[in-house]
Amino acid sequence: MLKVVVMVSGGGTNLQAVIDSVKNQTITNTQIVGVISNNKNAYALKRAEENGIPSECISPKNYETREIFNEKLLQAVKAYEPDLIVLAGFLVVIPPAMIGEYKNRMINIHPSLIPSFCGTGYYGLKVHEAALARGVKVVGATVHFVDEGTDTGPIILQKAVEVLQGDTPETLQKRVMEQAEWKILPRAIDLIANGKVTVEGNKTVILP
Ligand code: GAR
Repeated sequence: MLKVVVMVSGGGTNLQAVIDSVKNQTITNTQIVGVISNNKNAYALKRAEENGIPSECISPKNYETREIFNEKLLQAVKAYEPDLIVLAGFLVVIPPAMIGEYKNRMINIHPSLIPSFCGTGYYGLKVHEAALARGVKVVGATVHFVDEGTDTGPIILQKAVEVLQGDTPETLQKRVMEQAEWKILPRAIDLIANGKVTVEGNKTVILP
């Protein structure tokens, strides 16, 4: 059974997609053992509570230095003894020690087709604003392993979504979530839980 910790900062719709997929067996061999938020007001925490999943807030605001926060965050994660960490809209820079500890065991959902519209400063609505400003006709989402860079780790799954005439950042964000993120994040977890994903250099191989 793959033990998963999900890390969140906001609404938690991706968390909800994972919870639902575990419940309806779209994701198998998996248990969500904890949810960690950096934001005490994140609706994602409510979703965890409603589903009986242990959850907690670890906020940088509550610690004197970034180093202390980083240590506390890592301690909190380790306490769940997870096999996989899922960053589902977690908008905090991951402590380097945590990246080392969970190499090839931490994944992130990003709301663009990497390597477009990713890296420092590209998160949430900003990604969709940039895509519309550039006038691209196809956008999408990516699930990837987390490495030392920002959105640079091995790509696991991607899904494309069409931009429609008249889209706003908000309508585009919603369509990318519905058509791409909420599908590929659960799918990636299921693949990992069933031993179908291997990493070779900066690429993944997905077994049939
Ligand atoms: C999602 O669109 C996710 O892809 C994005 O934040 C949103 C969180 O929504 N993540 C990033 O931009 C990471 N760079 P949610 O809380 O409803 O799942």
